[in-house]
Amino acid sequence: MYQQRGGLVRLEDDIKGLLGDKEAYGDISRFYFFCLAFDQMMKEGISGDVAELGTYKGETATVLATMARRLNTTAWILDTFEGFNPADLTGVDASHRMEFDDTSLEAVRALVGEENVRYVKGYFPESAAQMPEDLSFCIVHIDCDLYVPIAHALNYFYPRLVPGGYLIVHDYASLAWDGAERAVDEFFADKPEAVIPLTDGCGSAVIRKARPKELSSNWMMRKRCALFRNEWTSAGRGALKELLVSGWSGAEDWGVWGVGPSHILNLTMAQRPTADLVVQVDGAAALVPRRLEQEVDVFVDGEQLERWHFSKEENRAKRGVRIPAKLVTVGEFGFPRVRLEFRPRSWEPISSLSPESNDGRQLGLALFGLRRVE
Ligand SMILES: C[S@@+](CC[C@H](N)C(=O)[O-])C[C@H]1O[C@@H](n2cnc3c(N)ncnc32)[C@H](O)[C@@H]1O
Repeated sequence: MYQQRGGLVRLEDDIKGLLGDKEAYGDISRFYFFCLAFDQMMKEGISGDVAELGTYKGETATVLATMARRLNTTAWILDTFEGFNPADLTGVDASHRMEFDDTSLEAVRALVGEENVRYVKGYFPESAAQMPEDLSFCIVHIDCDLYVPIAHALNYFYPRLVPGGYLIVHDYASLAWDGAERAVDEFFADKPEAVIPLTDGCGSAVIRKARPKELSSNWMMRKRCALFRNEWTSAGRGALKELLVSGWSGAEDWGVWGVGPSHILNLTMAQRPTADLVVQVDGAAALVPRRLEQEVDVFVDGEQLERWHFSKEENRAKRGVRIPAKLVTVGEFGFPRVRLEFRPRSWEPISSLSPESNDGRQLGLALFGLRRVE
């Protein structure tokens, strides 16, 4: 069901890189957090490159690279691939010792792969000079433990994070890496975003970049507008669920059934149309032994515009309705919308119309898809 609905994660495959040669990954909450973050970004239509500073043997990088491939974006993987820089073991981090030098770029390449991945070897922040200036990121994972590189990383990545993008700093609430906590607290003390500690193994901190207040940054409305477009949009697998208001059954692979006496759709637009709108609907009626024909009246805001006929000879078909521009009203968040309503003449339960059926639903119009005709 999750994958049918477009979920990005393939749990069993995606955890393999994290496991390495281990039988179980010790910090499964961290893995699940990444999964949910990617799914949420996909849901909200957030895009950009992916980055990790602090890769070591490449375990978390495998997850980021897999997602970058699926989103068809680039994962930038940054590390010295030779462990800490001794110069960073200073101040709050003076008590730490050299670590993570038992790795190599070649070994990480072999584990993480090349497709959609760019490796940046060297000491950060100097290594950033190897990357184009104009990058923007939808998710950045900072896992380099120490105050100095984390502070540089926040300065570098925060301005390049897209609105709604995720910034995750490992070790923030671990109580073992004070530099991570200090760098994050100092940086976000005067920013609009607040820090949320996660319940993963090392108390990663997460922020999501604040979004500007203008209407165009409302992802829910952007998504709805994108569904009412010039091409056919299938109603299968819940794809039109953002537009369904009331009188609809659960999502089916092929589309959705209207149920009961009234099925209502809200068709949302980014701009008010200057001329009449034509909406085409790919639809059918449930025709059964005691109902061989059906009629469906089409209303916009209580005004009847059409009556569609359905018979055995012409059931599933693409039918149109012309909507005068004056019937476009103001909907949620001030976006123009058309409140399209289908009223079937008959909505008796199928089981009472067809003796051999035990389907008690009051099926009206089957919606396979729709489009807006300019
Ligand atoms: C804890 S490890 C990363 C683990 C990895 N994210 C994982 O979970 O699989 C920290 C890494 O940060 C890198 N690192 C620390 N300071 C750095 C700096 N200034 N520039 C580049 N890499 C750095 C180290 O080389 C080390 O590989």
